[in-house]
Amino acid sequence: MKREKFTGVKGMNDMLPQDAHLWHFFQKTAIGVLERYGYEEIRTPILENTRVFTRGVGEVTDIVEKEMYSFTDSLNGDQLTLRPEGTSAVVRAMNEHNLLYGAQQRVWYMGPMFRHERPQRGRYRQFHQLGVEAMGIANPEIDAEMLIMINRLWKALGLTDVRLELNTLGNLEERQAHRKALIEYFEANRELLDEDAERRLYSNPLRILDTKNPAMQDMVNAAPRLTDYLGEESQAFLNRIETLLTAAGVAYTINPRLVRGLDYYNHTVFEWITDSLGAQGTICGGGRYDPLIEMLGGRANHGVGFAIGMERVIELLRDMGTVPQKPAADVYVIHHGGETEVEAQRLSEALRDSGVRVLVTPGQAGMKGQMKKADASGARFALFVTGDELARGAVGIKALRAGETQFTEQTEVAKDEAVNQLLGAL
Ligand code: HAM
Repeated sequence: MKREKFTGVKGMNDMLPQDAHLWHFFQKTAIGVLERYGYEEIRTPILENTRVFTRGVGEVTDIVEKEMYSFTDSLNGDQLTLRPEGTSAVVRAMNEHNLLYGAQQRVWYMGPMFRHERPQRGRYRQFHQLGVEAMGIANPEIDAEMLIMINRLWKALGLTDVRLELNTLGNLEERQAHRKALIEYFEANRELLDEDAERRLYSNPLRILDTKNPAMQDMVNAAPRLTDYLGEESQAFLNRIETLLTAAGVAYTINPRLVRGLDYYNHTVFEWITDSLGAQGTICGGGRYDPLIEMLGGRANHGVGFAIGMERVIELLRDMGTVPQKPAADVYVIHHGGETEVEAQRLSEALRDSGVRVLVTPGQAGMKGQMKKADASGARFALFVTGDELARGAVGIKALRAGETQFTEQTEVAKDEAVNQLLGAL
């Protein structure tokens, strides 16, 4: 039969063992920080009914228009979508389980998201997010606390090259007044609009401000600004966040052009950006999404949250090279098969009872090969369970790494003492 070699799906990555320590470090650090602010985990399915996202994220967004993995369930005709983001799914779950009535919820989730984008460095079709949502809280203090928490996370991870950009989208009436002014302005400049902008003119004129088209920059820069339409309350909401950030020593810049690519936001929007990753430098994005809860069938409520692109942060950690990689084992047990392997297994289990990480070669194998494997494993000590020594009721211990102070020469110890001796040396 012809041998067929398979490859993964384009834009979807394998996480290989050599990166595991980076993912684990990120997860452990992040959960540690989140717990200090009272957040608990929520898990929702990877598949949702497509309407959750068309409603939640918005019909006229890049995600819904061209990036969703949607399909018809051939068994029952359901329209399903691989989640492109987590917020809509979490709100769906909160509404469904009635968790928002008169209650505040602080939750986080971690897992794969799917967007059919053009793959490039930092942009994948399956990627992972750590998402965080605080719901049921109207006050700007929670927005500020969240940003302070994210800043704490960067510090705990050792990331220094990150900056915060902040903006407000105001409330619905303000956005509608601004939208009206924008449409009038773009109509007056119609000859400068590209195809994308033309298509969005009436459905989502705000997104035109996001254009990367150099020919439109001057026109877009001179467009009416939402700031000019913000009422006192919206301005005060943003100012309160600024006051709290400043008091906490969190640096930020106000970017009036920051609008974000999802439709559910109001008031606060923000992104954390690094210059160390090339074009895909946004490692975290979020904001307030009060309208979303009602849009997804709940009673009017409040929400604010963010998501971190984990692949991007992992790449930063890999480049920094500061996260130590733990070897797979502390002790490598070498034996001659047969009876010696039975004893090797017994001693290995006794070591594992005390939390020691142990590798044993399964089955009979040559001494040289086992020594090589022991070395490659990164283990600090080799434990020799061989016929001659065992006959005397003894085993051998030898340090494998330079810098060890004990067992620098292979040393014979009583079999029943081996575990204690190793625990003392580790
Ligand atoms: P988002 O800005 O679409 O927001 O995604 C958040 C982060 O996910 C981005 O800043 C980026 O780091 C990462 N990301 C997005 N797309 C990709 C991709 N194709 N490949 C790799 N990384 C990617 C949201 O998803 C909102 N749900 C955030 C939120 C939560 N807002 C309120 N609560």
